[in-house]
Amino acid sequence: MEKEGAIDHYRIYKLAEDERIVSFDCGDDDLNDFALNEAQPYRKEKLAVTYTLINKEDSSDVGAYFCLLNDRISMTDFDNKTEYNRFRKRFVNAKRTKSYPAEKIGRFAVAKSMKGKNIGSFLLDFIKSFFVIDNKTGCRFLTVDAYADAVPFYLKNGFVPLNDEDKDDDTRLLYFDLNDVSGQ
Ligand SMILES: CC(C)(COP(=O)(O)OP(=O)(O)OC[C@H]1O[C@@H](n2cnc3c(N)ncnc32)[C@H](O)[C@@H]1OP(=O)(O)O)[C@@H](O)C(=O)NCCC(=O)NCCS
Repeated sequence: MEKEGAIDHYRIYKLAEDERIVSFDCGDDDLNDFALNEAQPYRKEKLAVTYTLINKEDSSDVGAYFCLLNDRISMTDFDNKTEYNRFRKRFVNAKRTKSYPAEKIGRFAVAKSMKGKNIGSFLLDFIKSFFVIDNKTGCRFLTVDAYADAVPFYLKNGFVPLNDEDKDDDTRLLYFDLNDVSGQ
């Protein structure tokens, strides 16, 4: 499968309440386990909604998945008040509130066989536009607790760290400002 054409064979699909992913391997046990065993109960309890990238001709072939849940960015996410005030400078005074609406990318994984074909970046672009075009509620930021290994991938896609406190941790809290999406 060519790098440019890989995505053409797939479409994004919202997992229904009674549906499970039957087969998935991204090389990470926790992310595989969530896909196979947790995505459906999380959906049923309305705690997170999972989207899959499925083969148009074989829906059991899942090339990637991600799940989304509501979030917010507030002062407690920052190292100190000075850093929060710096973050809030993007808003006019009247809009400098205690927290800002965000959407959390709870899980995000591309199948081993599909990595390195721009699928991950394509899906992040999809999520960005999802919350910009015709969004039902206010949502200004995307957030993700990124695996340390995946941080460079998110940075390449415009995400930035919220604080320095977690720079040596296994996961790092990153955000993306949806006002940075072009062509709105
Ligand atoms: C991280 C992951 C989602 C990236 O998906 P992908 O489809 O392979 O990424 P893309 O092909 O869109 O890569 C986009 C860019 O990021 C880079 N990149 C991707 N993964 C990277 C990594 N782990 N480290 C450094 N750079 C990485 C690519 O080289 C590419 O750079 P380029 O544009 O200069 O060529 C995927 O590798 C994955 O599922 N990993 C295992 C699970 C995981 O870590 N999930 C994230 C949980 S927070």
